[in-house]
Amino acid sequence: MTSTLLRTQESMLRELDSRVEFAMRPDLASLVHWKQNNTAPVHRWYRYREGFSPKLIDVLGLGDRILDPFAGSGSVMVGAAERGLSSAGIDVNPLATFVAGVKLAPLSREQIAMVGAHIELIQSGRFATEEWPIPALNIAHKLFEPTIMTAMMQLRRTIEDHVDDDAVHRYLLLAWISSLESVGSYFKEGNGIKYRNMKRAPISYVRRPEGEWQRARFGDDQRAFAVQTYTRRLQDMLEDEGRIDRGAWSPQRIETGNAAEVLPNLHGEMDSILFSPPYANRFDYFEALKVELWFGGFVSTYEELRKLRKSSMRSHLASDLTQPSASLEELSGLIALMDESSYAMRTRVPGLLAGYFDDMRKVLEQCRRLLARGGRVFVVVGNSAYAGVIVPSDALIAEIGRRVGFSNVRVSVVRPLAVAPQQRLRLDGLSQYMRESVVELW
Ligand SMILES: C[S@@+](CC[C@H](N)C(=O)[O-])C[C@H]1O[C@@H](n2cnc3c(N)ncnc32)[C@H](O)[C@@H]1O
Repeated sequence: MTSTLLRTQESMLRELDSRVEFAMRPDLASLVHWKQNNTAPVHRWYRYREGFSPKLIDVLGLGDRILDPFAGSGSVMVGAAERGLSSAGIDVNPLATFVAGVKLAPLSREQIAMVGAHIELIQSGRFATEEWPIPALNIAHKLFEPTIMTAMMQLRRTIEDHVDDDAVHRYLLLAWISSLESVGSYFKEGNGIKYRNMKRAPISYVRRPEGEWQRARFGDDQRAFAVQTYTRRLQDMLEDEGRIDRGAWSPQRIETGNAAEVLPNLHGEMDSILFSPPYANRFDYFEALKVELWFGGFVSTYEELRKLRKSSMRSHLASDLTQPSASLEELSGLIALMDESSYAMRTRVPGLLAGYFDDMRKVLEQCRRLLARGGRVFVVVGNSAYAGVIVPSDALIAEIGRRVGFSNVRVSVVRPLAVAPQQRLRLDGLSQYMRESVVELW
């Protein structure tokens, strides 16, 4: 990018920022990430990498009725329930709403006893010898060692054939789903999955010796490893039932669907709306979660998966980029500065960005409609960069918020974001605009 273009970009970014009140809130940095939930009761039942900490509810001072239209695994909703507050949530991913639903549904004493009896059955080794069918995902056989696959599919058959109680069935299924990655030959990384037989080396990945990595990871008895992982997960879940007062939880409501389509059907007033949408960074959540989606039975054909991808927010290239989008002048100005020959420009990124902020507008319009007098909306979002240009999602969301009728907007910068190596040289002097923020609207 020439220095003239860089200067033009900087003045555009500065001008956009000048319309908003800014604050620095590094104290929120650890709360907009999953890490703290790894050990927190109930939250730890499924590691949702994109989740954030329910402590945000306290720090941001949320009111009694909370809405999270991008609820993910329901961290905010579980946090609301724990605090005796009520919440409503939406997420387009049926795996996410399943996880949230199980976490939000306390078991009765009888149901807890049924889970206990199931653990004993599994530990005694008297579970199904027949296997549940392997899903039609084309990489299914690469994902697990054959012995582990057999054990997991027998455990699944036991869950499906021997458990009548719906809540207990869902509870066991969650433990099984959340064991998959631990017993698998893959792990989630970046925008997808990687295989454990490959090790990261300075320049590329190298193959690990066959047999060696399996022993290091699973020990000598792979079947026992799979069974123990599943039963331990269930024991942890049961332990959490005793660590929190689930009896005092308020009822919460979670729906599966596209927020822009579900929100218009919601009625009633919300005191606080807190959400973190996907960032405009091409990250496709369905890619990294595809193993759980297929093995959990949330999709059974590629067409079903494609439809889910299409209905998600236009933050990635598999979403529906054919939909029309209202234009946003400030965004078009920035897109005009992007390097025409870049990969991003060739892969429909301008359409993606127009769609992203149009989806955001629809969501913010609904948030404004649903917000009670004196209520506030908080949007946790990160900026991105394409073809030598920074897309300041936080300032643009603040601007859209004002246009849909919010009188006040504030951007609290939580932490700087790293610029990808290929962008670093081109963004000389602009890196301070790469940041993660909480946009507050009221
Ligand atoms: C950053 S995550 C939110 C995580 C959540 N705060 C938590 O703590 O688990 C963004 C979520 O938005 C969801 N999503 C993407 N497009 C959506 C849409 N159109 N409507 C509703 N949810 C959507 C994704 O499935 C993902 O779970």
